[in-house]
Amino acid sequence: MKVLVATQKPFAAAAVAGIKKIVEEAGHTLALLEKYADQAELEAAVADADALIVRSDKVTAQVVAAAKNLKIVVRAGAGYDNLDLEACTAAKVVAMNTPGQNANAVAELAIAMMIYMSRNQFTPGTGCEVQGKKVGIQAYGNVGRLVAQKAKALGMDVMAFDPFVPAEKMVAEGVTPATSLEEMYKACNFVSLHIPAIPATIGSIGANLLKLMPKGGCLVNTARKEVINEPELTAILAEREDLKYITDVAASNQAELDEKFGKRVFATPKKMGAETAEANVNAGLAAANQICDFFATGCTRFQLNK
Ligand code: 3PG
Repeated sequence: MKVLVATQKPFAAAAVAGIKKIVEEAGHTLALLEKYADQAELEAAVADADALIVRSDKVTAQVVAAAKNLKIVVRAGAGYDNLDLEACTAAKVVAMNTPGQNANAVAELAIAMMIYMSRNQFTPGTGCEVQGKKVGIQAYGNVGRLVAQKAKALGMDVMAFDPFVPAEKMVAEGVTPATSLEEMYKACNFVSLHIPAIPATIGSIGANLLKLMPKGGCLVNTARKEVINEPELTAILAEREDLKYITDVAASNQAELDEKFGKRVFATPKKMGAETAEANVNAGLAAANQICDFFATGCTRFQLNK
């Protein structure tokens, strides 16, 4: 079988070497398409692939249609808003992700972002400490739980809101469950977003929540820009001169935010939450193993379009 790794944002070399070893030891061949310029290049490369490994690369209906031999696509990472699951299902292509594999890298970045904003983006002047501050974790999944653990180690109080996780589990882990988002935003100096971009969450973080944050409140977004209501974010930042926003995915109007709000906002130049050698290896190798298991035994663990 031919396994194509197609990554506009390439994996670290060690991850590519590891993927190649796993794929070839299982008797398959590996093809690599890195830093490609447009979708047409991906569509051409996938034409004879039996399996596809991607990161945030867009696996559209056109890509699926171009991939006549495709049996499985694995998103090496957590969020799968880049996969057209309906197109995969219609073409009988199994779609998977690798949940948890890059979670630590993202959690470390979320913590770093809180400290970075507390210290005025490392510019001169008096900042503040995160110890003793309260952080609200919006969605207590793989990343959220790790942010909670690290925040507690820094002496922060941790609250979380997740309607899908039992409150007892949070309490057992030293986290205060919030009964509503409003309660959490009202109580927390930082809110760290760990929700996927799905119809229920897209555009859901807006003025109604942000206006509740205490003085100096900071929103930390290592999730997706789509979950933010950007016009409302812009308006509340103008209205509340104490609020801050830091994001790993530049807002659509980031230039405007930078110009209007200066050091109260920050966006990484390119999404970097999962950009560690460790996360690349963990997610890349997991993807390769999932594909080899699928071809060897039909294993469909982590299938998204069941
Ligand atoms: C994810 O959903 O796993 C993260 O956003 C990482 O995405 P990336 O692989 O494109 O860095």
